[in-house]
Amino acid sequence: MTGPTQTFQLSVDAAEAYEARFVPAIFAEWAPHLVEAAGVAPGQAVLDVACGTGVVARTAADRMGGRGRVAGADLNEGMLAVARRLRPELEWHRAEASDLPFGDGAFDAVLCQSALMFFPDRVGALREMARVATGGGTVAVQVWDRLEAQEGYGAMYGAFARHLGPEAAGLGGAYWALGDLELLGSLFEAAGLTVTGVRTRVGTVRFGSATEAVATEIEATPLAASIDPATHRRILDAGVEAMARFVVAGGRVELPIGGHLVTAAAPG
Ligand SMILES: C[S@@+](CC[C@H](N)C(=O)[O-])C[C@H]1O[C@@H](n2cnc3c(N)ncnc32)[C@H](O)[C@@H]1O
Repeated sequence: MTGPTQTFQLSVDAAEAYEARFVPAIFAEWAPHLVEAAGVAPGQAVLDVACGTGVVARTAADRMGGRGRVAGADLNEGMLAVARRLRPELEWHRAEASDLPFGDGAFDAVLCQSALMFFPDRVGALREMARVATGGGTVAVQVWDRLEAQEGYGAMYGAFARHLGPEAAGLGGAYWALGDLELLGSLFEAAGLTVTGVRTRVGTVRFGSATEAVATEIEATPLAASIDPATHRRILDAGVEAMARFVVAGGRVELPIGGHLVTAAAPG
């Protein structure tokens, strides 16, 4: 769905492609919902953890109308280079999510979109987000729902599974790993955060064609490396067939995608 590796490490070229292709297709739609859920307001200090090319930080900055502090932090220099090119006036930091280079209580709101599932130490990262938030400040996290709850990607993986067996879903990678709300809530709790709100919504992922939708999914996940060329062809065809009901005008594809927006209060 969104990138070549499980931890999402990309070159600058790949990060530019991510910004040009995936941000408008998937992530831009979710950023205003996350910023809204976090209650971001002018004059605040806001941090975007695992900011990628910075769509959440940019959305927060626009909502704050230039009043306040907006910082983004990400492990990947390529992503940060694109973020800096787009919005040089914001702060961009290279950092591991579980070791943020900020003092205690530095931010009113700490946001994290489509990334917690990639972190090797998810509780450690949430604890770190709580640490850099002000007492009672907000930590707001977006993750994708479970694969079984995904009408569009569920249909695609169902088609893959008919050729590859049920383990195909596992090969889809970490994307769907935090869709279980009980599991997600337990991570927040373990990090000392009090969940104050959970919202599940369905967005739309847009591709130019069914082939593009399915090829992107195969090539952007560990699936591609695990299959031979003939199998690749077979699951591509099966996936394209499963996309028929999501095809709209001009052969474009609109895939529903469910995700959770969780807000929590940092310890006071
Ligand atoms: C799918 S992208 C999401 C980027 C951005 N939040 C957005 O909405 O477009 C996942 C991001 O997580 C970052 N990432 C993965 N593991 C990380 C870690 N342990 N610490 C910090 N960033 C990490 C990757 O570099 C990548 O930019």
